[in-house]
Amino acid sequence: MPSAENMDEGSILVRTLHLSCDPYLKGCISTMFKDSPFAIKPGEVVCGIGIGVVEASTSPEFNVGDMVSGFRVPWQTRFVTKTEGFSKIEVDSKIKAIDYLGVLSMPSFTAYVGLVTVGKPKEDETLLVSSAAGGVGQMVVQLAKARGMRVVATAGSDDKVEFIKSLGADVAFNYKTCGSFADAIKKHVPEGIDLYFDNVGGEFLEAAVANMKDFGRIVLCGMMSQYSLAPEMRYGVKNMFDVVTKRLSINGYNVGDHYARPEYQSFIEEVSTLYRKDKLKYRIAETRGLENAPQALLDLLDSKVCGKPVISIASDSQV
Ligand SMILES: NC(=O)c1ccc[n+]([C@@H]2O[C@H](COP(=O)([O-])OP(=O)(O)OC[C@H]3O[C@@H](n4cnc5c(N)ncnc54)[C@H](OP(=O)(O)O)[C@@H]3O)[C@@H](O)[C@H]2O)c1
Repeated sequence: MPSAENMDEGSILVRTLHLSCDPYLKGCISTMFKDSPFAIKPGEVVCGIGIGVVEASTSPEFNVGDMVSGFRVPWQTRFVTKTEGFSKIEVDSKIKAIDYLGVLSMPSFTAYVGLVTVGKPKEDETLLVSSAAGGVGQMVVQLAKARGMRVVATAGSDDKVEFIKSLGADVAFNYKTCGSFADAIKKHVPEGIDLYFDNVGGEFLEAAVANMKDFGRIVLCGMMSQYSLAPEMRYGVKNMFDVVTKRLSINGYNVGDHYARPEYQSFIEEVSTLYRKDKLKYRIAETRGLENAPQALLDLLDSKVCGKPVISIASDSQV
């Protein structure tokens, strides 16, 4: 095991506590992100967002015992790293280390950016959100309710639908048993959709476009239904001319562009305040043990997870 005596200047030895399991890792280990800095080649250690505790330091900024979070945490029990990309986190009786991969996580901020900055929600508008039981979706539902919207949400199992209802969604339905997507949306949103928060793409996006109000907005956050398909098999949305006739706006975004902006602080303030007052719930689906990490990622991609998956790998990881 390295120690401060044999580590490069400006480094930390970190013992990993929690690892975030996110859909983008699929892109990192496949060819989808092959030219991106996040690409993980065969034989390399998987790495993603994570939390750990500093056990040795040659950096003036970090002390032994500091809790840190980083975007390039390897799926290992311990690692030595330069401190760039790592920041200290504060924990207390309410906000635990794991909450930085939960209520204060990247997917949670993704929900905030997509809904608030990109979607520009208005009171009494109707929001439709897909994959609403996931890390992003569960936060979209609650932030939209906090802004006085009518929220219609979808997920792929009855248990997930019950969970979404418990978060305050006005209507939630199982898209796997509803029959025609377009008819189901029409039934639940006869007035038409003002804002569609899209986590899935494909055929469901097409059905949402068909049910948008004139001048409606669509926020393209992700395309869960398409990631596993070869490019030639991906679904081609057929009603794009509706975008013209209904004067819709469609905006994609990348949460990574928004961390350095003031909205990150606004997100932390709003979400931690609501969470401390028990006005916000956030379900973490915790897997214990590094040896179970690959299965946790497979389960996420196979739609078996309700909530935000996190892998906890240290015996004291309840901090
Ligand atoms: N733009 C950004 O910067 C950014 C950042 C982070 C995440 N994202 C995207 O945001 C979306 C949500 O991310 P997340 O972390 O909260 O993951 P998530 O929604 O929990 O993703 C997993 C869920 O996707 C759903 N799903 C899988 N295959 C599907 C299909 N064929 N059709 C419909 N739904 C399907 C499943 O839920 P059901 O059981 O309900 O089907 C599954 O449990 C993802 O598309 C992700 O790539 C974007």
